[in-house]
Amino acid sequence: MRRVVWCVVGTRPEAIKLAPLVSRLRREGNRLDTRLIATGQHRELLDRALADFDLHADFDLDVMKPSQTLADVLAAGVVGLDRLIAADRPDLIIGQGDTTSVLAAATAAFYRGVPFAHVEAGLRTGDRSAPFPEEMNRVLVGRLATLHFAPTHQAVENLLREGVARSSIVLTGNTVVDAVWSLDSRATRLPMEPPTKSYVLVTAHRREHQGEYLDRVCSALVELTRLRVDLSVVLPVHPNPAVRGALIDRLRDRERILLIDPVGYADFVALMRGSRLIVTDSGGVQEEAPAIGKRVIVIRDRTERAEGFGTGFVKLVGCDRDALIAAVDDLWERPEETSARIGPGRFANPYGDGWASERIARSVLNLLGIEPESAPTGFHATWDERRGETSGISSLGSAYVETVASNG
Ligand code: UD1
Ligand code: UDP
Repeated sequence: MRRVVWCVVGTRPEAIKLAPLVSRLRREGNRLDTRLIATGQHRELLDRALADFDLHADFDLDVMKPSQTLADVLAAGVVGLDRLIAADRPDLIIGQGDTTSVLAAATAAFYRGVPFAHVEAGLRTGDRSAPFPEEMNRVLVGRLATLHFAPTHQAVENLLREGVARSSIVLTGNTVVDAVWSLDSRATRLPMEPPTKSYVLVTAHRREHQGEYLDRVCSALVELTRLRVDLSVVLPVHPNPAVRGALIDRLRDRERILLIDPVGYADFVALMRGSRLIVTDSGGVQEEAPAIGKRVIVIRDRTERAEGFGTGFVKLVGCDRDALIAAVDDLWERPEETSARIGPGRFANPYGDGWASERIARSVLNLLGIEPESAPTGFHATWDERRGETSGISSLGSAYVETVASNG
């Protein structure tokens, strides 16, 4: 009899980060029925991200509605998933990250007594209001989960400090590294012509940044394009009306600032690759930038992803307009240092090694008492000397043993 595993997604980052795991689990199709369940917290963004990995939800609650509140999404998510669990009776539910959807999935699983496995477990800023409400979601999901897939040593430590049993934690690396390296040559063509050859790629959407903070970011971007005629900004605008309205209001028709609709994952990775540097408040982008050898300036007061600081790829500038201008200006002058710390034979990504999905899949199979049938598969980066960046390839077999040994 096949065991049933659900992978629940609600938003763009969950789709991107669970896609490699869904694909991996589906290779065990003889013994495992892996179902992709969407809450539909996001609509266009979710569908687009899934399409980039040739995935379609097996069931979609379609909860998104205009001006949805956190409570709307949580309530509709818990009720919808609860009914579906009762009908489908999964053996295990897997969720990822810190969104309202993952909180709904962990809660619904707990109420129905279904084990819940948390991917990207243990990230913490230690500040319950930042990011809001994601930090609290992580803490709550950490209490509800039965199995914790922690991406880094720091995440493992955070969970242990909160009293989570060591035996329920698996150090895996972050699946976003698998995702970005799995794209290979699909992610090299820019989806549009940037205003200048060298550009800063910007994303900003966090709830706690809406309002005055976003104004400061806009003001810094305008000033940067005024200071430097060779600098332009490419900014895919998040569809959240509060974000979209503010960005369009402040940045529409500004010279060398190009506002575009959100792009698919392969296109976005191509935009990251083509950029001189990246400015973001996104969690996933902070992890992807080092994976492809790009510098990233993080426009947040604190981050739960501090591992990148030591690599020289990640710089935190907080909410200050002048600090953002100074940081971009400084790095703009020294683009060669963007990839200075990586190269053939010395590339390391602090967030993962491209084998996270394989480790998680093995752990899941082990939990369900299934002997894996497929050969271990991961992804690794190759160094492109000409572009001064990494690109990914998939790899089979022995590297898995080595990476497991080096990760402990
Ligand atoms: C949520 C996540 C956040 C994640 C972000 C990814 C929570 C608490 N937060 O942000 O961690 O970084 O998604 O993007 O779950 N909208 C659309 N189409 C879409 C997506 C959104 O129109 O495809 C609009 C809707 O009007 C929606 C609004 O954007 O009401 C905000 O969406 P929501 O899921 O509430 O976003 P956040 O909670 O800010
Ligand atoms: N991304 C994308 N298209 C875009 C902007 C971002 O595919 O136009 C990807 C990006 O590479 C990253 C993810 O979306 O993997 C980040 O999503 P988001 O910023 O919505 O959420 P967060 O990471 O902040 O939770």
